[in-house]
Amino acid sequence: MAEEGYSAEILPAEQLLQALQSLISMVKIYQANNQLVVSGINQLVKAAQVLLAGRDWVVVHLENGRFFINDEKLLRRKGAANILENFYTFLSDRRIPGFRIMPAVATASPEELTGFVQLLNSCGDQSEPAEWLEMRLLETGVGWISILQVDENIQARKEHPPEELEAPGRRYPKKIYAYTLRALRETAETIGEGKRFGMRKTGRMIQAMVEEISSQDSRMLVMSTVREYSDQIFFHSVNVAILAIQLGRELGVAKDALERLGTCALFHDLGKLTMPPEVLTRAGVLSEAEFALVQQHSLDSARLILQGMVAPVARKAAIMIPAFEHHLKADLSGYPALGWRKSPSLSGRIIAVADAYDALTSARVYRRKPMSGDRALGLMRVGGGNAFDPLVLKAFIRMLGVYPIGTLLDLGGGGTAMVSRSPLTDDLTRPRAVLLCSDDQGGVSRGEEVNLAERDATGEHRYRIVGSAHPSVRNIQPAQLLI
Ligand SMILES: [Fe+2]
Ligand SMILES: [Fe+2]
Repeated sequence: MAEEGYSAEILPAEQLLQALQSLISMVKIYQANNQLVVSGINQLVKAAQVLLAGRDWVVVHLENGRFFINDEKLLRRKGAANILENFYTFLSDRRIPGFRIMPAVATASPEELTGFVQLLNSCGDQSEPAEWLEMRLLETGVGWISILQVDENIQARKEHPPEELEAPGRRYPKKIYAYTLRALRETAETIGEGKRFGMRKTGRMIQAMVEEISSQDSRMLVMSTVREYSDQIFFHSVNVAILAIQLGRELGVAKDALERLGTCALFHDLGKLTMPPEVLTRAGVLSEAEFALVQQHSLDSARLILQGMVAPVARKAAIMIPAFEHHLKADLSGYPALGWRKSPSLSGRIIAVADAYDALTSARVYRRKPMSGDRALGLMRVGGGNAFDPLVLKAFIRMLGVYPIGTLLDLGGGGTAMVSRSPLTDDLTRPRAVLLCSDDQGGVSRGEEVNLAERDATGEHRYRIVGSAHPSVRNIQPAQLLI
């Protein structure tokens, strides 16, 4: 009787943690269809739904011995304290800082839910359990939960003065990049087969990307310098997604809107998938009809999203519009020609900037030599006329600095360096960079990271910047050196 009275009073947050805690032991013995497991799952889903009401997600995180649900401290109540303590110990032993539950929990299968709990059990054997767990979830396209990551940089900042240069970040951004690429390729295959496509995996990857970019000093921007000439559409789309999310964040766009923006950016060139490949890869001058075909791709992207994507209409409309707008130009001098004079949406203007920058800094059939980041930004600023929204472009330059990450800098007699991080000071021409050391085989390796804004005792800059170049001139992928 006493027990019944207690469970009627149990709070949804406690119920959620209790269900997870008991499932952890149960899945070691029982299958997903066992009655006890089924009732544990029901309890978990019910509690999550109550907590989720009207929200995009519920965040559970651990801090100083206490659970926080959506940043609200969970009180230690009589009766529930034991469960909380056990579960807290379980998670902190595995260095899992918390997790985020999404509304998709309501439609997850019992196997998917117990599969997660099994992973939770086995992650304890891994060297980096939180990262390992998140990666398994990304690989399998689990959409209802994501794992918060230990922010090593926050820890590093606590231990060192902020000016001190930090070691390269964790491997996480590389994996997010690879999985997003794979999810996008799978979407393209589905489209190629003439089928409708879901957003389970791509949506999940964009979520992970937003999460990573929102963390302190994320290394995701380094990944946007990855170039692959032969498989351009996919790499370009992932790069534009990273740049757009980062730029949206710089402009103060809220997290849930950043996810929409990222999805849109990832899908902005979907229309190119339906174009004849010979037109896309033609190095020579295009005929008028072929050029018209190229110009149709933004409209085709919008059409594919609207007709092919499995999602509620309102969501599809929000994703479709910026894809349609990405070549319109801020002054509407681009394509397609419109019968009205309404400026593109903020997302459309953000994607236009990210798209142009990635295109200019990549090798293309019509321009085999890519531009260095600083020249591309210069061209967009000066030569772009009114093509770009000046405020969005300004924020983009502030975000990347005058010499964006990955740019090679000639330091005069001081050798060559690669820009590794944005400037620490207001001087946008003085980023942080790693010195490049040549090896015997003609390759390069990463040397010390220096702050190019540093001055010597006489007040002069310690390093001179006499020239810049695209990393491809030395055959280097920045991500290999910087992450
Ligand atoms: Fe495009
Ligand atoms: Fe594009």
